[in-house]
Amino acid sequence: MSTNNTVKVKLGPVQETMLIPLFYRSLELSQPDPIVRDEMAKNVIDQIDYDFNELAKSFDGDGLAFPIRAATFDHLIKEFIEKNPEATIINLGAGLDTTFFRVDNGKIHWYDIDLADSIELRRQFIDETDRLKFISCSAFDPTWFKEIKRRDKGIFIMSGGMFIYFEHSEIQDLISKMANEFPESELVFDTVSNFFRFRRFKKIGIKWGVWGAYTINRIKNSHMLGAFYYLNQYRDRWDTPLTRHYPYYIKPLLMITPGMYHLKLSAD
Ligand SMILES: C[S@@+](CC[C@H](N)C(=O)[O-])C[C@H]1O[C@@H](n2cnc3c(N)ncnc32)[C@H](O)[C@@H]1O
Repeated sequence: MSTNNTVKVKLGPVQETMLIPLFYRSLELSQPDPIVRDEMAKNVIDQIDYDFNELAKSFDGDGLAFPIRAATFDHLIKEFIEKNPEATIINLGAGLDTTFFRVDNGKIHWYDIDLADSIELRRQFIDETDRLKFISCSAFDPTWFKEIKRRDKGIFIMSGGMFIYFEHSEIQDLISKMANEFPESELVFDTVSNFFRFRRFKKIGIKWGVWGAYTINRIKNSHMLGAFYYLNQYRDRWDTPLTRHYPYYIKPLLMITPGMYHLKLSAD
């Protein structure tokens, strides 16, 4: 840890969760072959006055999910940008996310959306530019739609670690509204399975779990382009034999396997 921990964090409990993925992305840099290289995350962590060791204890063994999520989202966004080099990317619940800096091609336009106190903290570390804008607004308040000016060069929406804190009906409503506002856009987000939500994650306030693609395929105004499971990636890096040898290839088990889903949105 740096000795230069100057920024104190005063956030609501859900907003504070932004420190978790940031911390685990920064840790990857100490690996011989990092899943994601996020120097900016390390730089931000070094400036924050916070007990990250305490935080790490509650995620013992599961922290690998965060660099895997970042690498998966990076890959999908880079693919989208290849096809749509002047795309607009919208990041819901951005926290201290740094994806823009890993995928930027010098032409994309990017919007990071989060609640006011989170955006305030973000501004302490990251500067806005002509192509990187921050919007203080709840993702569920459609007033942010009118801030998205450039809509004809392809739109990709990402949301890491946010949907899980809301009810299924709220997620469905948000997806339907975005589908009607940004038809033909793409969306990627992560989930936990209902199995894990009930067993383990209840204590940290997770409200939304899914039964894998069974739930995702029933989300209106969308169809699934891809599903990505944490446990079948970087298998040698998972801690326990159960996670390392998890038989994700047994199809019914995917209903209880945490994953990330890539959707195409379509208007009513
Ligand atoms: C676990 S953090 C994830 C941060 C970031 N996506 C990442 O992966 O580093 C969840 C984020 O969702 C944000 N959030 C919670 N409720 C929100 C809402 N209604 N609208 C927008 N953002 C919200 C929090 O402030 C926090 O930054």
